[in-house]
Amino acid sequence: MDRKDFFSKVLMGGSVLFFAPAILNSCSKASDPAPTSGGSTTGGITLDLSTSANNALNTVGGYVNSGNIIIIRTTSTEYVALSNVCTHQGCTVSYSNSANKLVCPCHGAQFSTSGSVLQGPASRALTTYNVTVNGTILTIG
Ligand code: FES
Repeated sequence: MDRKDFFSKVLMGGSVLFFAPAILNSCSKASDPAPTSGGSTTGGITLDLSTSANNALNTVGGYVNSGNIIIIRTTSTEYVALSNVCTHQGCTVSYSNSANKLVCPCHGAQFSTSGSVLQGPASRALTTYNVTVNGTILTIG
């Protein structure tokens, strides 16, 4: 191997190493995007339970979507907030009050209200967010 062949092979190998991460990332499955808000934000999403848009949250089993987060009232005093982006391939999951679980319409994955996988093909739990209540104001995140 002469000097020219040596540098040619080194540069070719360097190119493969340089582009390999970009190629591998393009094949990855959907990941949870950063939460977006359909409501007002001040360090998190805030929802006012006294407004008609959030009226569903005044009933146990009621829920609202805010951006890519679904907020569900699970008891008279408790709420949960989860990403509504399915961890399988990114479809939007919806809440079934009668079954008390989140269901993906694309391939049938099911999740508990704590985000855990109840049925595949999804293998990762939904992202969950902290919910705090102060009067009629819910703060998520
Ligand atoms: Fe949800 Fe496939 S995208 S199960």
